[in-house]
Amino acid sequence: MAKNMRSAAGTHSTGPSRPDRQSDKYTRFVSAGLGRDLASRLGLPQPAILRRYESGAPLITGPVLVEGSSAGADALATRLLDWDLDVRRHAAPKTRLGAIILVLDELADPSELSGPVRSVGASLRDLAANGRVVTISRSASADLDPAAAAGRKAVDGILRSMAKELRHGATANGIILGAGAHTTAAGVMGALRFFLSGRSAFVDGQFLTVATGSGELPQAWDRPLAGRVAAVTGAARGIGAAIARTLHRDGADVIAVDVPAAGEPLAAVANDVRGTALQLDITADDAGERILAHARQRHGRLDIVVHNAGITRDKLLANMDAARWDSVIAVNISAQLRMNRDFLASELFHDHPRIISVASTSGIAGNRGQTNYAASKAAVIGMVAATARLMEPFGGSINAVAPGFIETGMTQKIPFATREVARRLNSLQQGGRPEDVAEAVAFLAAGSSAGINGTVLRVCGQNMVGQ
Ligand code: NAI
Repeated sequence: MAKNMRSAAGTHSTGPSRPDRQSDKYTRFVSAGLGRDLASRLGLPQPAILRRYESGAPLITGPVLVEGSSAGADALATRLLDWDLDVRRHAAPKTRLGAIILVLDELADPSELSGPVRSVGASLRDLAANGRVVTISRSASADLDPAAAAGRKAVDGILRSMAKELRHGATANGIILGAGAHTTAAGVMGALRFFLSGRSAFVDGQFLTVATGSGELPQAWDRPLAGRVAAVTGAARGIGAAIARTLHRDGADVIAVDVPAAGEPLAAVANDVRGTALQLDITADDAGERILAHARQRHGRLDIVVHNAGITRDKLLANMDAARWDSVIAVNISAQLRMNRDFLASELFHDHPRIISVASTSGIAGNRGQTNYAASKAAVIGMVAATARLMEPFGGSINAVAPGFIETGMTQKIPFATREVARRLNSLQQGGRPEDVAEAVAFLAAGSSAGINGTVLRVCGQNMVGQ
């Protein structure tokens, strides 16, 4: 294979993006001039301004190094040329790299890791700010030869540690191939594109499993949801409003759902995305039926459901009353279970449907004062895993996204000192934005993600809590 598969066409800077007004004040302060010098001398966190998705911007700036000597690595490198990337198969010293893809799809023993992994290590210093590392390996199932399972599982430790070593907004994430997937499967290409792009700005140290080769590549990568109809609950504000906007940007028609009390902001969001508004309390017994009826009458179809509506009623367990416990369980999980039964039973929802449920890192790691909330969010993860097989007959999928610390009205209410600590406790040393969660939802809603089913994708900047 040629050393340089195509010469670079990009002329964009490989440095960090300019500070923007949406970053928190501290991040803006330490991103330039005196603030940067001061933080550096005092050893304070130096969060980078993250590169986020912009329509028309290049997928990645700078060469993409594909490490690995398997046929799968060759096939992937060739396929990436379709994306107009400057693909390299060998590192050239002192070349700023946009991304490194480490393909380890034929690992049979941990001793085989040394060469390719250290080779990536040697290139890390050349990785541009906001650069990307993506590993592609196979799942370490229990029925494998122990040496093969050991090698495959070792990738877990490598990826998660490497992500913690990267700086300047760079991230590392992994794609795990199931038995039915190969390195150029639609699901792999979709996941790779997500990880390489600014859409995954706040996803770090995470793995996505592409179980099968199913799924379709979109006709246009910047409108992967064209022709699809999506219902988003809790869409009047916060993360739900961002999801509605992002799904619309990606081509979907949006049904914005929220409680009648939020009617005004709900209508504003629906207008903004040229969608329709549905005032509905999702805990109503007929909530699923009402969403289906609205979708049938106003849009003629329903393809995507995003269970985003959620509430917190925090209290230490010793002081927990029934009202707090029951309301959180009712909104955050029971309503979803009930609605999913209706959706699955309806022919309107049988054309490659997608369900994406918003969980939380609290449901993975637990959180003081949140037994009710963590129970409901862990329950979402259990529900998603067990609903996956029910989606398969329709070519559908269901997944969860688990946000960490996201800058919303909810987290603004946390007292300053606690908030400041919580926000820095991840590899990117900052909170995420509602749009970051929305990007993960949109990615999972796309046709290319069909092979990703029953999983949880954390959007937490590699939060130090939990797994
Ligand atoms: P938010 O409180 O700003 O918005 C939630 C929306 O859901 C509101 O518009 C509300 O009216 C609606 N809603 C509540 N109960 C409803 C019901 N019974 N029927 C219909 N709509 C209802 O919350 P935020 O921060 O935007 O959170 C959205 C989701 O993300 C929630 O599921 C939350 O648990 C989850 N999450 C948020 C994190 C954060 O840092 N903000 C972190 C982890 C998860």
